[in-house]
Amino acid sequence: MQVIVTEHPLIQHKLTLLREDQTPRARFRQLVEELSSLIGMEATKQLPLSQRSITTPQEQTVGVELSHPLPVIVPILRAGLGMLPGMEWLIAGAEVGFLGIVRDEKTHQPTTYAKRLSEDLTGRHCFLLDPMIATGGSLNVAIDFLFERGATQVSTLSIIASPEGIQTVKSHNEGRNVSVYVASIDRGLDSNAYIVPGLGDAGDRLYGAVD
Ligand code: PRP
Ligand code: URA
Repeated sequence: MQVIVTEHPLIQHKLTLLREDQTPRARFRQLVEELSSLIGMEATKQLPLSQRSITTPQEQTVGVELSHPLPVIVPILRAGLGMLPGMEWLIAGAEVGFLGIVRDEKTHQPTTYAKRLSEDLTGRHCFLLDPMIATGGSLNVAIDFLFERGATQVSTLSIIASPEGIQTVKSHNEGRNVSVYVASIDRGLDSNAYIVPGLGDAGDRLYGAVD
């Protein structure tokens, strides 16, 4: 497994805007979408291409297109949903599967409450979306699930991770075909297992608090 920190200046600029507590919800959503596309550009760099004959207004030629089957995009609800438009824009027409995972506020253990995706992912490359890797528990559950359904490659796209979360994901996925793309590995976790400096609760900032 490999970890790639996406250090493009535009990503770092937008990430700072995203972190600010005064950033209003509409702008926050827009930034998450934009960041997903920019991180997604890195994460899709190695996608295989196939040749295709086309006719231009001038002549026949051979172009390329993304090989089929296209990758499957899997947002982790809720916050990963905010990253979906940015990835759909990159891979138009890709299948989308949904995983609902929530972590317990006290124990920080993840629970899966929704699985709405193909039973058979044999041979597929999946792009998992979740802006935050805090303890790493939610991401590990999601990665395990995709491999259990037959996926052969998993690329994860996140915006902020903690060093602890990255370590946990690394040790859990040793030897697997997993690539973790993230815009920043922050200082650490606070006593509530929130990332610092982080950006707060991504799901709440995108969609509102759940009581
Ligand atoms: C957040 C976040 C990740 C998870 C990260 O989701 O979007 O899924 O926490 O924490 P972990 O690395 O310690 O598992 P949350 O459980 O708050 O659910 P929500 O997106 O529905 O708000
Ligand atoms: N979930 C979030 O949304 N933010 C954190 O910092 C940790 C978990």
